Amino acid sequence: MCGIVGYIGYREVYPILINGLKRLEYRGYDSAGIAILNSESHIYKCKGKVSDLEKHVSGNPIHGNIGIGHTRWATHGEPNDTNAHPHQSTGGKFILIHNGIIENYVELKGRLKNLGFSFKSDTDSEVLANLIEYVYLNGNVSAEMAVRLALSQVEGAYGVVIMCTDEPDKLIAARKGSPLVIGVGNDEYFLASDATPIVEYTKSVIYLSDQNVAIITRTELVLKTLKNIPLTPTIQQLDLDIGEIDKGGYEHFMLKEIYEQPRSIMDTFRGRITTQGTELHLGGLYQVIPRLVEAKRIIIIGCGTSWHAGLVGEYLFEDLARISVEVEYASEFRYRHPILDKDDVVIAISQSGETADTLAAVRLAKDAGALVLGICNVVGSSIPRETDGGVYTHAGPEIGVASTKAFTAQVTVLAMMAILVGRRRNILDDKQYQHYIDELKEIPGKIEKILEHAGEIQKLAELFKYVNNFLYLGRGYLFPVALEGALKLKEISYIHAEGYPAAEMKHGPIALIDLNMPVVVLAIKDHSYDKIVSNIQEVKARKANIIAVVNEGDTTIKQLANYTVEIPEADAIFSPLLAVVPLQLMSYYIAVMRGCNVDQPRNLAKSVTVE
Ligand code: G6P
Repeated sequence: MCGIVGYIGYREVYPILINGLKRLEYRGYDSAGIAILNSESHIYKCKGKVSDLEKHVSGNPIHGNIGIGHTRWATHGEPNDTNAHPHQSTGGKFILIHNGIIENYVELKGRLKNLGFSFKSDTDSEVLANLIEYVYLNGNVSAEMAVRLALSQVEGAYGVVIMCTDEPDKLIAARKGSPLVIGVGNDEYFLASDATPIVEYTKSVIYLSDQNVAIITRTELVLKTLKNIPLTPTIQQLDLDIGEIDKGGYEHFMLKEIYEQPRSIMDTFRGRITTQGTELHLGGLYQVIPRLVEAKRIIIIGCGTSWHAGLVGEYLFEDLARISVEVEYASEFRYRHPILDKDDVVIAISQSGETADTLAAVRLAKDAGALVLGICNVVGSSIPRETDGGVYTHAGPEIGVASTKAFTAQVTVLAMMAILVGRRRNILDDKQYQHYIDELKEIPGKIEKILEHAGEIQKLAELFKYVNNFLYLGRGYLFPVALEGALKLKEISYIHAEGYPAAEMKHGPIALIDLNMPVVVLAIKDHSYDKIVSNIQEVKARKANIIAVVNEGDTTIKQLANYTVEIPEADAIFSPLLAVVPLQLMSYYIAVMRGCNVDQPRNLAKSVTVE
């Protein structure tokens, strides 16, 4: 959600904050702000993007070696200059940036108002700044203690970085629910809500855990719990290169990430298929594989695109491993009263590993005794740290808000898991097992072939860029891809789109179909090919423009559809990895042609760390 950056050390802090905020802008981008301490405190903030903040600051160069910055995705209070972070307490002693939601802020605000505190903004974060100041002044305690005592009164989630004007050589950071990473340099420390602003300075990092507080001076980092119990920080090495978080010559991160998929899928299975190509090794499942193989039921949870990958997982585990699967939105699952026991396996899918609802669902499933596994992309994020085992997707940083390469990496991991479990359960014999491994290795090359024809998809986008509604249809493995195609279009081009199981179309959406409603049909040569051909006929009879994604050499559908996009043939279980690529490209090109901000679509955030 919001992006947080902080620095204390010997360098000029302003460029570190601005560059860091630019790296984090994909997390939220409705307003931005910075605060720098030198002999006095300087706060600049405004509605809009980091570039607007730069314009706002220009002409007022601020020097200093300690500061904090924030890019916001509004939860409480509309995006405007006043609600932008940092927030300063009424007496001016505390300045903070906050990611998360203070759930009891109304009650706290009422109490503080009665005590004479005033509020400029509508945010819950300003309440926290005033609460800390109240505890500090009233309790006559250190800044650090005031922060700890104030946070113990807070309900909800936070990742906060705080400066105190009375102790100007210190940053205080704390976390509950919202991620914070600390970069460790020589006589300098960097803070951020993810590692992207840190990696250009240091690869040594400390991931803050929930209820931990870090008190940081230029030369020392003290880690403790909210209750003042000292902790020993664990320094880890980042496996991330600066080149991975640049656009690398592409116009947008999304396009770069679409084009990265042959490599990112290879990275997902690299080292997991033996060099002879005869075995699958998933090290993160090593300890738990017997329970997974014996599972009575698998429940897959996720949000957004990760939920769509989960739907593909349902087909994979049922087909290849014959285990019953349910796929749940994490946000629904956690607020129901799900029936779970130790024979259940819950698989949480999350690119960021930080989505608040998915994390909460993980905790619920663990408390209920289920085996909980994660399929996540961001190494060291909260979900992999809280699950019993899992598999990293290793797709590299995904910066575009609309998820692309994370989806194909998630599906790749699910396929590897299902193949492995299917073999262990003797559902697959050696020959089938080998066949699927061989097929998987072919997928990156097949995606390359699709990407070579991007120009054709661009021409299609030109034809349909001004349409208001789209329908996406698919069956079997391609039903989740229809949902994902529709989601991509909605997210970045703001065109209304619906994904539907092709046969289900007759029960409603068919009423919408006319000349003005293009229908994208995913129609590969699998066991339901004849059925989907019939569905295409039904759509054609209603005069819709049909764009069909077909296998190379298909002649039947070419005669029926208005436009076809070819993808190479592959076993049906891998078809989502191929069929999704033209849909990603089409959404991308339409959004660009409509002048939309592809990497930062309105109202969306990359990592949703609030419920
Ligand atoms: C946000 C993002 C989506 C993503 C979803 C789940 O809505 O914009 O692209 O699919 O969160 O995120 P996760 O990190 O859990 O996969």
